[in-house]
Amino acid sequence: MHRVLITGASGFVGENLAHRFARDTEPALAYGRHRPRALSDRAFSVDLSVRGDFSRALEDLHPDTVIHTAAMTSPDLCEKNPRIARAVNVEGTREVARWAEAKGARMIYFSTDLIFDGKQGWYREEDTPGPLNLYGRTKLEGEEQVLRICTRWVIVRMALSYGETRGAGGDWTLSMRKALSAGGTLRLYTDQFRTPAYIGDTAEAVFRLARHDKNGIYHMGGADRISRYGFGRVFCRLFGLEAERFVPVRMEEVRMDAPRAKDCSLDTEKIRREIGLAPCGVEQGLRRQKQAEAALDKGNESPQRRSGPA
Ligand SMILES: NC(=O)c1ccc[n+]([C@@H]2O[C@H](COP(=O)([O-])OP(=O)(O)OC[C@H]3O[C@@H](n4cnc5c(N)ncnc54)[C@H](OP(=O)(O)O)[C@@H]3O)[C@@H](O)[C@H]2O)c1
Repeated sequence: MHRVLITGASGFVGENLAHRFARDTEPALAYGRHRPRALSDRAFSVDLSVRGDFSRALEDLHPDTVIHTAAMTSPDLCEKNPRIARAVNVEGTREVARWAEAKGARMIYFSTDLIFDGKQGWYREEDTPGPLNLYGRTKLEGEEQVLRICTRWVIVRMALSYGETRGAGGDWTLSMRKALSAGGTLRLYTDQFRTPAYIGDTAEAVFRLARHDKNGIYHMGGADRISRYGFGRVFCRLFGLEAERFVPVRMEEVRMDAPRAKDCSLDTEKIRREIGLAPCGVEQGLRRQKQAEAALDKGNESPQRRSGPA
């Protein structure tokens, strides 16, 4: 049986990966402060900001593949707490990479579209990164650690993601819903463009990549390039919410700790070609999310969820 370790297993992406892999194998899970809902007898709490904690806690594990999703993921929090952001995203990734290498495991590292400066759009894997904020810089330095240390590696640069929340870590549609249900309005950018990725596609892509034995960088986004405001309107239409409570704004009108890039859309041709997966567009992805949420509600899952980065 293929032995897999997923870090960040209590996060939005980690929980969904754990769910996908559990159909085929029983992944070991590493998390920080929130215990994952995914079932595993092998779930370990680790602190990636404390050197040596991860390696000590997982000393007895011997995975074939390590999927490293754990990170400090809020750009604004990273900007305000640069020391912790580096400790987790750069030095933590270095520790996980060294550990994976020592165990002879293949490393799959989650990076982000925000390593690009957003001036060009439709970025391909070979385009030159130029992150505008500390979060993007730490994720890029994480990539550099993986490339320097690991013999067998994959880097998945993921676009802004959405989909069903399975545990504590929510996506940004959850942030939108929370803001609306609190009765307020929500400002959404009209001039920031991404290629949002439905989490079911990402989980399937990573599942297939884990079965390859090829090194490489892969861009994982959805089929549509769209602004947050445009996405919000489709979301409201499909989920029966009041789109009028979304206020269209330009990025310069909003005070942010971390500067944001304008167009970080990702070209996903490589992932289509090499693993035969065609990521869906926003409308189809949100329909799949709705269906999955209905199935989760039927199973009476109603965890307390944290919202994702908005
Ligand atoms: N979601 C997106 O739209 C998006 C887009 C592009 C790239 N990415 C990348 O995808 C990966 C997963 O993102 P996500 O949305 O799933 O993030 P998330 O929901 O914020 O989850 C982050 C995970 O990292 C863990 N973590 C944070 N600090 C830790 C520490 N000091 N020690 C150990 N674990 C720690 C958290 O554990 P606890 O909560 O248990 O403390 C949680 O499991 C990240 O690498 C992110 O950079 C995400």
